[in-house]
Amino acid sequence: MGNLDGKESAIMIITDHYAVFGQPVKHSKSPRIHQIFAQLTGQNLQYDAWEVSAEQFTGAVTDFFAEGGKGLNCTVPLKELAWRYADIKTERAQLAKAVNTLALQPDGSVLGDNTDGCGLVTDLTVNHGINLTDINILILGAGGASRGIIAPILDQSPNTIVIANRTTEKAINLAEEFEHKGAVTGCGFGDLAGRSFDLIINATSASLSEQLPPLPEGLLAVNGSCYDLAYGNQPTAFVRWGMENHALLSLDGLGMLVEQAAEAFFVWRGVRPVTQGVIELLNSERQP
Ligand code: ATR
Repeated sequence: MGNLDGKESAIMIITDHYAVFGQPVKHSKSPRIHQIFAQLTGQNLQYDAWEVSAEQFTGAVTDFFAEGGKGLNCTVPLKELAWRYADIKTERAQLAKAVNTLALQPDGSVLGDNTDGCGLVTDLTVNHGINLTDINILILGAGGASRGIIAPILDQSPNTIVIANRTTEKAINLAEEFEHKGAVTGCGFGDLAGRSFDLIINATSASLSEQLPPLPEGLLAVNGSCYDLAYGNQPTAFVRWGMENHALLSLDGLGMLVEQAAEAFFVWRGVRPVTQGVIELLNSERQP
């Protein structure tokens, strides 16, 4: 590379390494999303996808950072293990009891964060203009995916959150963990009859197998919206349910995927990529 006085200057371009660990991770869109973010923001990084089982997790993460890796995303089934692994955790990761983002700190410690809930809230409020304040929200499911989104939604001051789950006790226990942060209660699907909600979020894993929890008629309020945390090339069973029940918007989790990635990118690089074009690109590619 030439410089002003014509001499060669030795500028070493360092490529920082990032990756997503999970199982299965073959079809992950994260490498693509982060490479686009890197191009958009002029950051020099490489992002790979590694198939890592729960048994391999601790050794694989330790090796990754020992070999100079700067940050990781952790997906199914590793988020709880990542939470345990992290030396320090953000408040939102602590509340979620799950970590999807690990970041090497200057002192060599590993920070655990959870950007899933933030990604959902950004997609709902910024990308789709759904105001969460003072509305009644139903979350279907009381597993790890639900746990990660409750606190960020409560931060938006909804009127109520109801968590409904096949195993009622799990919904009640989960709600109790968050009731110090806002109005949240748990129940079974059978308790939903006669109630209606402005926003229904599907956080069950049922959608992935094209199944739906039993949802009574009238559950979605007039002008209410539906959001499935899952996404696919075709509308999920829950997105179709929303359309059939006249949802104003019936959305899947592709926008959340991109937004949680953008937030992780910000944690690692201190730069916030613009997401709209990336969401549009991924949306345009999934039509068969
Ligand atoms: P995740 O990390 O994706 O949340 P999880 O922790 O295993 O996965 O939780 C899966 C959630 O989907 C649970 O709330 C589960 O209900 P139970 O707690 O009763 O098992 C819910 N779920 C899975 N399959 C379902 C189905 N066919 N109908 C209704 N709920 C279902």
